[in-house]
Amino acid sequence: MKTFEQIAELEKKYLLGTYNRYPLALTRGKGVFLYDLDDKRYLDFVSGLGVNALGHAHPRIVKTIREQAGKLIHVSNLYYHEYQGALAEKLCTLSGLSRAFFSNSGTEAIEGSIKLARLAGHRAGGEVKCRLVALQGSYHGRTFGALSLTGQEKHRKGFEPLLEEVTFVEQNDVEGLRAAVNDNTCAIVLEPIFGEGGIYECSVEFLRECRAAADRHRAALIFDEIQCGLGRTGTMFAFQGFGVTPDIVAIAKPIAAGLPLGAFIAKEEFANAIAPGQHGTTFGGGPLACRVALEFLAIVEEDKLLDNVNVVGAYLQQELKMIVEKSAAAKEVRGRGFIQGINLEIPARPIVDEALAEGVLFNSTQDTVVRFLPPFLLEEKHVDKGIRVLKKLLRKKRKAAA
Ligand SMILES: Cc1ncc(COP(=O)(O)O)c(C=O)c1O
Repeated sequence: MKTFEQIAELEKKYLLGTYNRYPLALTRGKGVFLYDLDDKRYLDFVSGLGVNALGHAHPRIVKTIREQAGKLIHVSNLYYHEYQGALAEKLCTLSGLSRAFFSNSGTEAIEGSIKLARLAGHRAGGEVKCRLVALQGSYHGRTFGALSLTGQEKHRKGFEPLLEEVTFVEQNDVEGLRAAVNDNTCAIVLEPIFGEGGIYECSVEFLRECRAAADRHRAALIFDEIQCGLGRTGTMFAFQGFGVTPDIVAIAKPIAAGLPLGAFIAKEEFANAIAPGQHGTTFGGGPLACRVALEFLAIVEEDKLLDNVNVVGAYLQQELKMIVEKSAAAKEVRGRGFIQGINLEIPARPIVDEALAEGVLFNSTQDTVVRFLPPFLLEEKHVDKGIRVLKKLLRKKRKAAA
């Protein structure tokens, strides 16, 4: 087996320098744990950035992949197979929306969503009905359309010109939203809970106003639930917890238990704006990914994992809030279920780095937020371990600063 240094050196020589990885090479996983080259165990609060909701090497997922890989992995979208329609039906039933399109990633699900909104917009109001409204501080992905909607300078810088028809509004600014949406708006795009943006929730009042403004101006309300959707908030779709239904919802991350798959699901009145040939993908919605996604959804339902997300998520929140009460280094806890963040008074990355030595994987975002996106299998005893490590490291930082 290669050493860590050999692995890292090879990447340094041959990969584009886009990632600032942690000094850790992983070889295997089991449940909520991952193992490195020396077989050291790590408790996983990251889930591959919200993907491994069933943890690692889930027996039913492994079995499904084995079986399907031996039969049929890919056919392209020229032909039918058994699983794409079945998965679309399941997602439509769960969301109450009408039709799905399958992509390979989150950013592509956003691209498809805004293409569909443009078609519906043009149909309703001509070429001028093309404008998009998005939120400051949001994150929607790295392709040009998704990047154009991403309200963070650090991601946009260097790639201009982006789509010009985007107006940004502050999250939860009802008046700003009202002023930004007009008859030329074809879509309002937002994450109900900012993920990369630092775990900030949209208020119900704001989401209701987005719904009303979209209806008033015949625009599509698009929710990006790529990070917060599919159970992470404790409801299957985050919007179900907020009581506001979008016209289009984009999902990805956990849907195929680690295989690349994304989707957007639309109400019929928007879905029927698209015709054969206007959008497509070679890989999206293949038999392997779709069958695994059906299995993922079956496991979440049969094992009542959303109950676990709610119960253990509440416990995590309670424990994090206690840290905020007691530690001067922590100021706020945000989020719900298994998408939560603790905002620190100090940089979060050193905490995440040092937690590695303690056998815990955390993640940081927006400089001062330690983010928790654990597998849905996480138990209270795992929360206890994570909290112990977090407290220890915060104490250590305080001492070092004193
Ligand atoms: C809310 C949100 N939208 C879009 C994306 C982009 O998804 P992907 O990285 O699969 O392209 C992400 C990824 O983190 C995300 O969190």
